Amino acid sequence: MNARFEPGLRLRGRVAPPADKSISHRAAIVGAMASEPVRISNYLDAADTRSTLGAVEQLGAIVESRPDGDVLIRGCGMRNAQPPGAPIDVGNAGTLMRLLPGWLAFQQGMSFTLDGDASIRGRPVDRIARPLAQMGAAVQAREDRFPPFTVHGAGLRGITYQLPVASAQVKSCVLLAGLATDATTVIEPIATRDHTERMLAGGGARVIREPRAGGGYASTVGNADELELEHVHVPGDMSSAAFLIAAGVLVPGARLVLDGVGVNWTRTGFLRILERMGAIVVGELEEPGTFSGVEPACDLDVSYGPIVATTVQAEEVPLAIDELPLVALMGCFAEGETLVRGAAELRVKESDRIATVVDGLRGLGADIEAFEDGFAVRGTGGLRGGRIDAHGDHRLALLGAVAGLASRDGVEVIGMEAAEVSYPTFAADIATLAAG
Ligand code: S3P
Repeated sequence: MNARFEPGLRLRGRVAPPADKSISHRAAIVGAMASEPVRISNYLDAADTRSTLGAVEQLGAIVESRPDGDVLIRGCGMRNAQPPGAPIDVGNAGTLMRLLPGWLAFQQGMSFTLDGDASIRGRPVDRIARPLAQMGAAVQAREDRFPPFTVHGAGLRGITYQLPVASAQVKSCVLLAGLATDATTVIEPIATRDHTERMLAGGGARVIREPRAGGGYASTVGNADELELEHVHVPGDMSSAAFLIAAGVLVPGARLVLDGVGVNWTRTGFLRILERMGAIVVGELEEPGTFSGVEPACDLDVSYGPIVATTVQAEEVPLAIDELPLVALMGCFAEGETLVRGAAELRVKESDRIATVVDGLRGLGADIEAFEDGFAVRGTGGLRGGRIDAHGDHRLALLGAVAGLASRDGVEVIGMEAAEVSYPTFAADIATLAAG
């Protein structure tokens, strides 16, 4: 499905961006591990998180949609996942594919095969296979690296694992497996999102998260026989809100209020980058360094205004990883050269996001250059517009849409349906704001 996004809209008013995808995935998985029912309010209704509900149902959890819109999960308990007769279908969801094996790894004597769509089949799982093997579970993957892959559950031993790449998905996988060990520590040289730690702490597990002298954090879990979550409220997704924030800053005359956006500091790197660029975004953000065990949220007030270029530092990359395509877009409108390095992880997302962002924006008139681990954009006062291919990547589709709203001639997005993965209501939210 192709969709056109035209300039000239007057974006004003208030919307609630969709629920957080990362937290929704975790709530469904931890809900399935719990022994008592877990009620989830504001669970994200989108393709990726529907895949997670489908996966936990395949494993024996019962998922109920309540009349008030909440999702109720009656879990299997920590050690009672049932191997389904068919492969577990993760769809397009990398987070599901990398987190779920952490639980499956300690279903002793049982084997589980995971598979997904064409994009998923190109995404590496050796990054979780290695630590799970150290803990005692075997993972067999196609070419030792790609889905489909099979997790053979076993009794696990605790490890201390230093992440070779700054990945919250890998950290979360090891921590979930670590629940069934005496103690497991994951060391991240650069901080990544800590939703798993917060949710496990909320479920009664003992979780220690400490800053390290040399930088980064260490998270430790262990000896959790039971999780009891009762109720999870999912805040709005910063990574989806980011598209509206970018539109608010770039579209002349815009003034938006975004309701209930999650502002856990490990997710607000984009807002700190925008602040340096001179963008006006007002809200009560969590202090960097906090580990409180809850997920903070606030309303964000975004105003149109001129921006200047910035350089994104390597330690900011994981805290804004999914928003870096938008940093490239902002760079087109900023005075000076905007530089992102240390972001090679972008190459193994739903698409190779260095290639697809750089080629896509260049096709719309951007002066942008790719590096192996990032990009440089020279601001040219705006974007002409044209056509951009989403390459089946939700964040590319949404990037093209925002580029269109802020462009001179408008943008046609080829494959807009990719947005279903995280933000199915984007066009409707823009229509609400345009009518406001
Ligand atoms: C996510 C972590 C990030 C992010 C992804 C969601 C998560 O991936 O890009 O969209 O929910 O843990 P990596 O851990 O691979 O960096």
